[in-house]
Amino acid sequence: MRYQATAQAGSNIAFIKYWGNVDDALRLPLTHSLSMTLDTAITTTTVTFDPALTADIFVMNGEPILGEALERVSRHLDHLRGLAGVSWRAKVVSVNAFPTGSGIASSASGFAALTVAAAAALDLDLTRRELSAYARLGSGSAARSIFGGYAELVTGARHEDAYAVQVEPPEHWLLVDVVAIVSKHPKKVGSTGGHKLAHTSPLNSARLAHVQTAIARARTAIHTRDIEMLGHIMELDALTMHAVMMTSSPSLLYWEPGTLTVMHAVRQWREEGIPVYFTIDAGPNVHVITLPEYADDVAERVRALPAVQDLLICRTGPGARVVQ
Ligand code: DP6
Repeated sequence: MRYQATAQAGSNIAFIKYWGNVDDALRLPLTHSLSMTLDTAITTTTVTFDPALTADIFVMNGEPILGEALERVSRHLDHLRGLAGVSWRAKVVSVNAFPTGSGIASSASGFAALTVAAAAALDLDLTRRELSAYARLGSGSAARSIFGGYAELVTGARHEDAYAVQVEPPEHWLLVDVVAIVSKHPKKVGSTGGHKLAHTSPLNSARLAHVQTAIARARTAIHTRDIEMLGHIMELDALTMHAVMMTSSPSLLYWEPGTLTVMHAVRQWREEGIPVYFTIDAGPNVHVITLPEYADDVAERVRALPAVQDLLICRTGPGARVVQ
């Protein structure tokens, strides 16, 4: 048995998002979701199972992490330890190649890398589908980062029925995500807390009905490399998700003034003929999606907006993999 392994995974940006779970403990999402895995927003994680350890240790970006974040990692390792019949504690060392609070979900890349590294260290022979289902137990969106390119997370009533599948590999269609950072403040309510509120919104049932067709349209747009079709459904979906967030009890209002500035700018640039569309996760920063040949121009325009403090440029990337 190997006791140590290192894995890398990119984060992802969902074009059709999920908000709310049917089962919060198992992270079984209410709806399917579809995303693009990102190349530069990467987490590298080394897991070492060691009989000399009396407790799990988690170090992120050089800082020892305690409390709820450590417990979440520990609980995640327990699933894989249970599967391997191993009780040894582990040291987990993670490095994010992107700033925390940048609007990129580190839980997606983090739990995908952790799952792949821990499974390799424990010598577990899991399929990508099984790895994806396990990654989901750590963070729902991590299930999609197991795959490169475009991935769809399908939901189900049981743990083994909720996993991601690849829609297209990265080389099928390169897209660019220019992340416009308008705030670096930590959000008051994270995804885990937010998912629990989805059902309190009167708009949630309307969104559930919409997601079914949205997923099918996004899939077709990706297969046919149709940026207009994808962009339209992506914006609509982000807006319906934020409508659910805003109308839940309590209400979650993730947008800042800068968020709206970027949204309006994107629509203005589109009127000027640039294929550019926005999507927004559970935070104020705006993901500006475009084609590679427009990326420099779009990045320059985003950077020039006074509301934008910083930006990150990501492209379609590969899935989670063992690197050592
Ligand atoms: C808005 O996967 O971050 O980004 O399971 O609590 O870690 P946890 O939630 P998470 O939720 C993702 C929410 C979203 C939409 C999406 O990525 O589909």
